[in-house]
Amino acid sequence: MTPRLQKYIIATTVALLTGLSNPALADTLELSVQADQPGDTISRYLYSQFAEHLGRSIYEGIWVGEDSDIPNTRGFRNDVIAALKELEIPVIRWPGGCFADEYNWRDGIGPREERPVRINTHWGWVEENNSFGTHEFMELVEMLDSEAYIAGNVGSGTPREMAQWLEYMTAEGNTELAQLRRANGRQEPWKVAFWGVGNETWGCGGHMTPAYYTDLYKRYATFLKAPEGNRPKRVASGGSDANTNWTEALSSNVHRGMDGISHHYYTLPSGNWPKKGNSTGFPEEEWISTLYNTMKIDSHLAVNEAVLDKHDPEGQIGIYLDEWGTWYDPEEGHEPGFLYQQNSIRDALVAALNFNIFHRHTKRLHMANIAQTVNVLQAVVLTEGDKIVKTPTYHAFEMYKLFKDASFIPTAFDEMPEYTLGETSVPMVSASAAKTADGGLVLALVNLDPADSVEIETLIQGFEAASATARTLTADAMDAHNTFDEPENVKPAEIDVELDGGTMKIVLPAKSVTVIELR
Ligand code: AHR
Repeated sequence: MTPRLQKYIIATTVALLTGLSNPALADTLELSVQADQPGDTISRYLYSQFAEHLGRSIYEGIWVGEDSDIPNTRGFRNDVIAALKELEIPVIRWPGGCFADEYNWRDGIGPREERPVRINTHWGWVEENNSFGTHEFMELVEMLDSEAYIAGNVGSGTPREMAQWLEYMTAEGNTELAQLRRANGRQEPWKVAFWGVGNETWGCGGHMTPAYYTDLYKRYATFLKAPEGNRPKRVASGGSDANTNWTEALSSNVHRGMDGISHHYYTLPSGNWPKKGNSTGFPEEEWISTLYNTMKIDSHLAVNEAVLDKHDPEGQIGIYLDEWGTWYDPEEGHEPGFLYQQNSIRDALVAALNFNIFHRHTKRLHMANIAQTVNVLQAVVLTEGDKIVKTPTYHAFEMYKLFKDASFIPTAFDEMPEYTLGETSVPMVSASAAKTADGGLVLALVNLDPADSVEIETLIQGFEAASATARTLTADAMDAHNTFDEPENVKPAEIDVELDGGTMKIVLPAKSVTVIELR
């Protein structure tokens, strides 16, 4: 019998005899943090976003137009912009997703009343009036002090269209496109940091084979030119899940002009697309299966990194995980094609577990964009009319801010008990640490167990901590979430942390994300 099981039996017996409810267990796990061995820089781009023309993501979520009753600045909702600003979002990917491969950038420039109305054939077959286009997106990027990642159209667009879009955005002189941009209100070229050549070309982006797309990539990328100093990094459309065939084909055949290969991975509670599982009101079996499934990204990244290590030993090509997050069954009362879903404490744990994994892969993983920013899939913000709510995922992003551009620090548990339900087991705790640029140390701890707390005793090597502050995000119910009436059900709170020389002790509540800042 394990000591943990022994403790559990004793605690349960005491609870039965005294009639008190079973006190949450606090096992002690020993963790060493090797602050004397700082490693790679954790790229801030791992905390990027993805906002698509899908459902109420752009329209209603970010953009309401200047004439809206919802308080806005030049059409952008003030509440959403303020919330997003706090997150210090490094990069926003736009306009899709699947939408990207049916988008013609010329539809979204010029006077709004003259822009054509199209059908968004992927997402709900609704009208797209193009009132949010290139100028609006770049203004959003500037308002958020972020960087732009454009997803270009390979599926239904031509190399010329894609090349001209980039020229429109970056041209300096007196070319027709530079003048057109100026006539539409933008004098100076924009800085376009990243450019995706197609999206999911294995699926909605054209149902291609890796070999066919590899040739297409070379063709489109050849004509993607911009003035020196303003050339975007070019990202090929890659695979998904555990697949490596896209990374294999691209990295072994494209020898120039490819800075990265995208990869997508969505977390489904059931792992099964036709019946994914619900965002709330789910059984514990779906709590653990969601956490188990999300951590598969670790091996998906590892197998693709191995392919890159073979074909690109110098490490020039990055993996861009430009879509990740939870994907649940459609919510009742919402248009299924809009992919609106609630977001609970489980989603915050999913986010934190992903961050902890991303940190370990930062050498090859050059970017990660959660899908999606507002009102779609694992959104950081939900809106309804003039109301806004920050989701538990938002809070996870906010709590992890200190990790951006910090130096990765190795951590190791002496022993790691598992949280098990039925046939599924996951490690009880996940950890990640980093040294911040201003000389501090940050430690993130995730307790995956939905019922038991756990004490962590940390030995910190190579760092003298004078003070420690800790914030935790937790809740009573596995599906606790924020609503428009109760927007602060799930929010971070300070918790006690004990510092004694080089040792730190903290009790992590059940189902929690905790970030500790040491100075
Ligand atoms: O994020 C929703 C969709 O998921 C994207 O449009 C597509 O790229 C992926 O299949």
